[in-house]
Amino acid sequence: MPIVNLEDRVFLLSTRDMSYVVYIERGGALCGAYWGPRMDRIEDFADAIWLPRCANAPSAQYMMEECSAFGNMRFKETSLKLCHPDGTRDFRYTVEYKSVEGDTLTIALRDVHYPVRVKLCYRVYEQENILEKWRVVENLGGAPVRLDRVYSGEFGLDGMGWQSLNYNGHWAGEFQACSEEVACGKVTYESLRGNTGHAHAPAFVLHQGATEDSGDVFFGMLAWSGNFKVVAQPVERQYVSLLIGVNDTDFAVTLGGGEAFTTPSVYAGYAQGFTAMTHALTDFARARIMPRRLADAPLPVLYNAWEAVEFHVNETEQMRLAEVAAQLGVELFVVDDGWFKGRNGDAAGLGDWVVDRNKFPRGLGPLIEHVKRLGMRFGLWIEPEMVNEDSDLYRAHPEWVYRYENRPVLTFRNQYMLDMTNLDVVQYLFGMLDALLRENDIAYVKWDMNRYASEAGSSALAAADYPSIWYRHVEGVYALIRRLREAHPEVEWECCSSGGGRVDYGAMAFFDEFWTSDNTDPLDRLSIQWGYSLLYPVRYMRAWLTSGGALNGRGFPMAFYAHAAMCGAFGIGRDLNAASEGELAEMAGYVAEYKRLRDVVQLGKLYRLARFEAGRDSLCAVQYVKDGRSVLFAFLQAGGFARPYHRLRLKGLAEGGIYNYAIDGETHKKSGAWLMRHGIDLKLQGAYASRVIEFEREA
Ligand code: DGJ
Repeated sequence: MPIVNLEDRVFLLSTRDMSYVVYIERGGALCGAYWGPRMDRIEDFADAIWLPRCANAPSAQYMMEECSAFGNMRFKETSLKLCHPDGTRDFRYTVEYKSVEGDTLTIALRDVHYPVRVKLCYRVYEQENILEKWRVVENLGGAPVRLDRVYSGEFGLDGMGWQSLNYNGHWAGEFQACSEEVACGKVTYESLRGNTGHAHAPAFVLHQGATEDSGDVFFGMLAWSGNFKVVAQPVERQYVSLLIGVNDTDFAVTLGGGEAFTTPSVYAGYAQGFTAMTHALTDFARARIMPRRLADAPLPVLYNAWEAVEFHVNETEQMRLAEVAAQLGVELFVVDDGWFKGRNGDAAGLGDWVVDRNKFPRGLGPLIEHVKRLGMRFGLWIEPEMVNEDSDLYRAHPEWVYRYENRPVLTFRNQYMLDMTNLDVVQYLFGMLDALLRENDIAYVKWDMNRYASEAGSSALAAADYPSIWYRHVEGVYALIRRLREAHPEVEWECCSSGGGRVDYGAMAFFDEFWTSDNTDPLDRLSIQWGYSLLYPVRYMRAWLTSGGALNGRGFPMAFYAHAAMCGAFGIGRDLNAASEGELAEMAGYVAEYKRLRDVVQLGKLYRLARFEAGRDSLCAVQYVKDGRSVLFAFLQAGGFARPYHRLRLKGLAEGGIYNYAIDGETHKKSGAWLMRHGIDLKLQGAYASRVIEFEREA
């Protein structure tokens, strides 16, 4: 039973390995009593009451509440703030009802005076070890109620000494994992950019010195692709309060009579060690979030010439590239930015999703047919939320961009942001993109977003509603992609935002993969991929073999590029026209090798074995395991200190299984126990050396 109820006052929510207990304390507040390894005896919580551990403080501040509201002697960051027309800005409630329907518990809190109900919803994913929380705020009266803050979930972790893990990232440097102590003040991660952003994950991960394999790890992922906020705050040196949800900065949504606001969900879990956290999130994402059609299928090997040719695409050149790509074994040929009307650089064209007749005089049809004849599928880049001033769309509808009446609109990459709160805009974009997909045999779309929001003003909204734009924009994006997917269920969709600027569990529900980063320098990539893989599935981690030295002014052996990219959903981004016969043959070899391994990489379990440390002789190594197969990727940055051999202990194998593998042409046969306890000694020397080793269990 995932949900057990004691005296209608204590609720034990259990997954396979985790329990979460909420209770209504004597004063009527809904509080958290327990979160951790599974507990089966609800009677243990019969006397769950809140005990003051300090005499001189208002009790409300101390309670580990499930829905703390602004005011009411709560001086910490609270998870709900609303405003009634008379200026009252707090929420005082009684529990109105509790209901259990299957795997979902709803506890409804009702204001003692105003006609407002806040429903706290908990869904238990028993097999996947995840607890989902979300809230619904209902205005049951006639007068408007303004929501100024409504987090998706509130959690509490008892005691002090917690560390918080998140990212300290930026464009071309996403997913840089970092842990910090939650010791005093608040630790906050947020986005104020209109999208998820490159800096932090909409997530919390709290631990007390956990490692890959040990230590309590408590985590929560917000399913939201816009402004978010995560706060970890030690309260009165007693517990850490965790809040996660839509950012309350410049946020206000007014609910008219009878209207309701549903927050995005947060998916929370508990694991022993970071590896178990990654596995829980990956399994959950595959079972419950990823669009079904491709969730269990490995992604195709793609070719994308963006890094090689940028905006300079044309029919002849792309056809030639397609011929070479097909010879390499590529399965999906993608034309990136530059194919549409007037798009010769970043100053024109966005918004006009029709083909540029100067570059493709016969339309896209002949190129698509060519690509298909070569045995590949065809893919295309778009950036639907954006418009250039130099575009037919902007000339026709200058009022369709976010703007303030008396301010010039700021540009970034020469573009404005379309007003996705305006249903006419969403409808127009749907019409245009639907036509593009109906008229051309397009199997894959890369949806990009290359600027952040600035002037949050809209010609479609009353001025008082402008602070709802940050939220409504994301709803508009979701509405558009939802409609497009419904109309074109066979299309594969990639989510991109100047690299990995929109990677989150909200976008994951609408897209089949993420573009991880514009940085394809393999050394940087290994660190980016390491951090990414903590919280997001490898199956969604697009990675290309390029010659990408431009960002850092350095180059690598092709094997190093290839092996780093093979750790994710592999693609190629090199200029194939500039490649020698030898280089093409080498690339074809990697494609063939990857196709053999991709099931294990994309659908297997990931183990992070070793990470580059400060010393130059350290290794980065990741291992994937699926059924009786495993593959290990190892990378050496520079070597040195006369240490050619590196000991690597494998993980996730069957102790009693016998595994065959070869290192540099020499075959070996060892038990899983030996591989995991003793480990292999891998010879890696010199700058940027790498190896891929496959392990096959004997039947
Ligand atoms: C940013 C993306 O991250 C790149 O991969 C590429 O698609 C460019 N935009 C195109 O403008």
